[in-house]
Amino acid sequence: MAKQIALFAAFTLLACAAVCFYLNSDGAGSGAGHLDPQFYSRSCPRAQQIVRSNVAKAVAKEARMGASLVRLHFHDCFVKKRSRPNRDSARGFEVVDEIKSALEKECNQTVSCADILALAARDSVVLAGGPSWEVPLGRRDSRSASLSDSNKNIPSPNNTFQTILNKFALQGLDIIDLVALSGSHTIGSARCVSFKQSLYNQSAGLSSKLDESYAAQLRSHCPKSGAGDENLFHLDFVTPTTFDNGYFKNLLNSKGLLSSDRALVTKNGVSMELVKIYAMNNELFFQQFAKSMVKMGNISPLTGWSGEIRKKCRERNA
Ligand code: HEM
Repeated sequence: MAKQIALFAAFTLLACAAVCFYLNSDGAGSGAGHLDPQFYSRSCPRAQQIVRSNVAKAVAKEARMGASLVRLHFHDCFVKKRSRPNRDSARGFEVVDEIKSALEKECNQTVSCADILALAARDSVVLAGGPSWEVPLGRRDSRSASLSDSNKNIPSPNNTFQTILNKFALQGLDIIDLVALSGSHTIGSARCVSFKQSLYNQSAGLSSKLDESYAAQLRSHCPKSGAGDENLFHLDFVTPTTFDNGYFKNLLNSKGLLSSDRALVTKNGVSMELVKIYAMNNELFFQQFAKSMVKMGNISPLTGWSGEIRKKCRERNA
């Protein structure tokens, strides 16, 4: 009998230990898609600090890096099966590589690339003067090698307003998120090749008209020929490195650079009203932007035992 009791006690203890480990393993065992800002508080307590200092260093060296990091996070949230960044959205990836290697030295294979991107995006926005928010953490990285559906979820600048809205809806994001998150175009730039089609083809139904003098200015640096396809243009040409509501003010003056930007004020009454509100009230824009960034970061994350923690962010582990 004593043996049976001892066995039962040992079994209960083991079961308890397993459950406790599952619940307390820094969230890693949750498996329910749950993210938590404190996820690395025990496994890598300096993680956030390391990301922040590396982002600050990169932005001090080259201001436009912050914008590229925000865009990388956006693409990472919209494409879950990507094995490596595609050419179009790879700008700034060298900063991610640096952060990853600093984190690998601090706490080997603990902090995911997806979380690095989420933190780096927040820090970049803050450094540019934008709002701050707590970043839920605990994402894991894709193990997939598939490049097949890499780009189809990502909105293209020449998509119609409805297509873009649908692509956001597919990710559980609504029109409020769409307008607020587009506000991140207040920092950063676009290559000539990204908006040339609408610049030279205003009659093709590609969104609304662009202010004529602004268009002429753009055409002189973004020739039809293809010679300047890689030239960069500020998405918010008035306050290009400051995170503010300048982007929305430009939209109201028909000076949105991308066709998809201009569509926000011409193709839908609700989005137009939102643009007007954010153009008038920077604080409201900041509040909604922070909320929508958290929502975007929560799009079906890999958690628990799914995926992996990559050793290098450009490729899945061998
Ligand atoms: C609404 C649909 C969107 C479209 C069609 C779109 C399209 C684009 C395009 C074409 C560029 C320029 C890329 C290049 O020429 O290299 C760009 C840049 C950028 N996008 Fe978007 N975007 C959208 C939404 C978003 C969202 C939701 C975010 C972030 C939350 C975002 C953040 C950025 C940033 C920060 C840049 C500047 C990148 C840099 O300077 O390196 N965009 N976007």
